[in-house]
This record gives sequence, C-alpha cells and structure tokens, in this order.
Amino acid sequence: MTLKNKCALVTGAAGGIGSTLCRQLRENGVRVAAADRDLSDCEAEVHLPGDLTDRTYASGLPKAAYDALGGLDIVINNAGIIRRGPVTQATDEDFDLSIAVNVDAPFQLCRAAIPIMASHGGGAIVNIASCWGVYPGPDHAIYCMSKAAIATLTKCMGRDHAHQGIRINAVCPNEVDTPMLRSGFEARGFDSDTAIEQLDKSVPIGRIAQPEDIVDVVLFLASDQARYLCGSLIEVNGGKPVA
Ligand SMILES: NC(=O)c1ccc[n+]([C@@H]2O[C@H](COP(=O)([O-])OP(=O)(O)OC[C@H]3O[C@@H](n4cnc5c(N)ncnc54)[C@H](O)[C@@H]3O)[C@@H](O)[C@H]2O)c1
Repeated sequence: MTLKNKCALVTGAAGGIGSTLCRQLRENGVRVAAADRDLSDCEAEVHLPGDLTDRTYASGLPKAAYDALGGLDIVINNAGIIRRGPVTQATDEDFDLSIAVNVDAPFQLCRAAIPIMASHGGGAIVNIASCWGVYPGPDHAIYCMSKAAIATLTKCMGRDHAHQGIRINAVCPNEVDTPMLRSGFEARGFDSDTAIEQLDKSVPIGRIAQPEDIVDVVLFLASDQARYLCGSLIEVNGGKPVA
C-alpha cells in the first residue's frame, strides 16, 4: 500500500485497535504520533499524551503532530468509550462522557486537521464508528447515538472537504476482540474467553473480529488505493447483522 513516508496521528493509540494500528502503520513505513492518556507501552515516533475530553488538548493534537513529525497526512480518530444500557439507566455522566470522547473530540480533531492538511496538499481522515451507529442494537442507546453522530459527521465532512484533496471515511466494525469488549463481559460477571467463544458462533464467518481485521481496512482507507472514497462508511462485520 502507498503509505510509506506518510505521517499519521492516531487517537486511542494504547487500546486494542489503536496499538495494532500503530504497529501496522509503522510496519508500512508511516511515522506515527500516538495520542492516549497513558502511552507508556505504545511504540510510536511521537507520544502526545492527554485526555480527549480537554478540548484544548484535542484541538491542538493535529498541529502538535504536524510539528513533531514534520507533516500530517493521516488522522485516525479511534479513541472511544462504551456505556451500556437503556436511557432510563444512564447517568448524565454516561451521556456527557460518551459525547465528549466519541463525538466532540473527533469533531475538534477534524476541524483542526482539515486546514493543516488542505494547505499541504490533502490527506486522509479515518474515523472508527460502529455497525451499531448505522443499525442501532438493543440496550446501548447512548453508544449507538454517539456512533451514529460520528458516522453522519463523516459522510458530511467527506462530501464537504473532498475538493480540498481530503478524503474522510469511517470504518464500522461489529464486535472486535479488545479490552472494550472483554471488560463488558467481565463487568457482567462472565468469563471473557468463554463469552467470546459463544459470540464467535453468532458470526457467519465463524469468529468475531481481531484488531488486525479492522486495521487492514483502516490502512486501505488511509492509503492512496482508496483515492476515490469520500464520505463512505465501510462495514466490517464478518457477515453479522446487528441484532
Ligand atoms: N471493540 C469493539 O467491539 C468495537 C466495535 C465497534 C467499534 N469499536 C470502536 O473502536 C474504537 C477502538 O476501540 P477498542 O475496542 O480498541 O477499545 P479500547 O478500550 O481497547 O481502546 C480505546 C482507547 O481509547 C482511549 N480513550 C478513551 N477515552 C479517552 C480519553 N478521554 N482521552 C484519551 N484517550 C481515551 C482509551 O484509553 C483506550 O486506549 C472505539 O472508537 C470503539 O468505539 C470497537
């Protein structure tokens, strides 16, 4: 893929999908600026630690990455949180934090990154949304709403900024084997290995996704091979519909 010598900013870089993203980007010759709260185990050219609920931090990340790497060709809005349950069980904090991390932070990053990329010949932004934002599933009302918001924002931005040479797309995974999924099982008192074995049976292709299954699609969207994709939502689901 034509990624060599590009410069990328990745949020949620210490997480399940994020750490795989950083590794595979670097294996493809990309220089990576990693953003997350704790980056002590994260391999990247540049560490930009901080909390994405801080708007000054989030909106400053593209320039910080550009300055540290000497360029900014790719931004991957990957950080996210999940709060479970119907709205009657949700707190104001569930709502505010979900919007802050899953919607406000990508908005801040995109708004700051687009002019930087536009003035240097363009680039690619990939947002990690979710199948559950396109087809809302049960008992995750706030998560689904937040992922629907970033999915729609992606479609709008993809159209609005294509003329500047900036391609903005999103990947919509179904279940992926990461700490986000496993912590949910553990919080409900299930053994996560057993729960994932059960979940594997619900996927037509025979298993839930590993981070690599998602990251390969993100790298494609970030690469010049996806040069005509603008504002697309790519479902990566092993054939499994949302329940
Ligand atoms: N795992 C799944 O089943 C699944 C399915 C669909 C979509 N997704 C999406 O994929 C993305 C990555 O999720 P993952 O499964 O790797 O989860 P994860 O929990 O392993 O990683 C998420 C990362 O985001 C970071 N983050 C969260 N809040 C932050 C904040 N306030 N400031 C800075 N960083 C913050 C966390 O520290 C963590 O490293 C998320 O947007 C998630 O919604 C995941």
